[in-house]
Amino acid sequence: MEACLVTNTVLGVFVSGRGSNLQAILDAIQAGTLKVPVGLVISDNPKAQAISRLKDTGIPCLCIERGSFPSRDAFEQALVDALEKHQVNLVALAGFMRLLGPAFLRRFTGRVMNIHPSLLPSFPGLDPQGQAIRYGVKLSGCTVHFVDEGMDTGPIILQQSVPVLPEDTVDSLAQRILEQEHRLYPLAISLYSQGRLRICGRQVHILEAEEVD
Ligand code: GRF
Repeated sequence: MEACLVTNTVLGVFVSGRGSNLQAILDAIQAGTLKVPVGLVISDNPKAQAISRLKDTGIPCLCIERGSFPSRDAFEQALVDALEKHQVNLVALAGFMRLLGPAFLRRFTGRVMNIHPSLLPSFPGLDPQGQAIRYGVKLSGCTVHFVDEGMDTGPIILQQSVPVLPEDTVDSLAQRILEQEHRLYPLAISLYSQGRLRICGRQVHILEAEEVD
């Protein structure tokens, strides 16, 4: 992946479901701690609760369903076209339940982030909180990373650990992790928008504000 120098970030958010991370991003913008506009939200699920969170925000939302297209490439081209039309230059996956392929990632290399509720590379994919409990780890957490073509494999931007308690259920652990997700994702987006993230191979260096050219 290439290094990225970013100014004038316009954020696109991809959702499929509940949208609590979308809400955290909107709340951070409202609070003034995240200074980027959301140019577009795309849902691949017309029933996503996330869509209702945009009520009264004026943020455009498109529902683009995979089933409306003959191929994955055609679906991803529609995503790219919509993002370009709205001048989006950073995409945050926020509970988006699809892997993005080369047609999409070639266009947005180093410009797509995801949040995952485990300390990657442990427990990628589905049910990471259940995986953590079944494995018996004492710490889990969340990871914000750049997206590559793998499943939760891209360069790691930020991580936050939380304890896994003996009495935890999947729900109680998910809730503890989610609180940290809501803090970490706006922070990662903010660092990106300030040009403070440099991708060097697998490592993401976080620059001090004074180090940004
Ligand atoms: C979050 O736990 C996120 O880490 C994962 O999917 C969940 C989405 O939750 N990728 P929400 O839709 O943001 O509430």
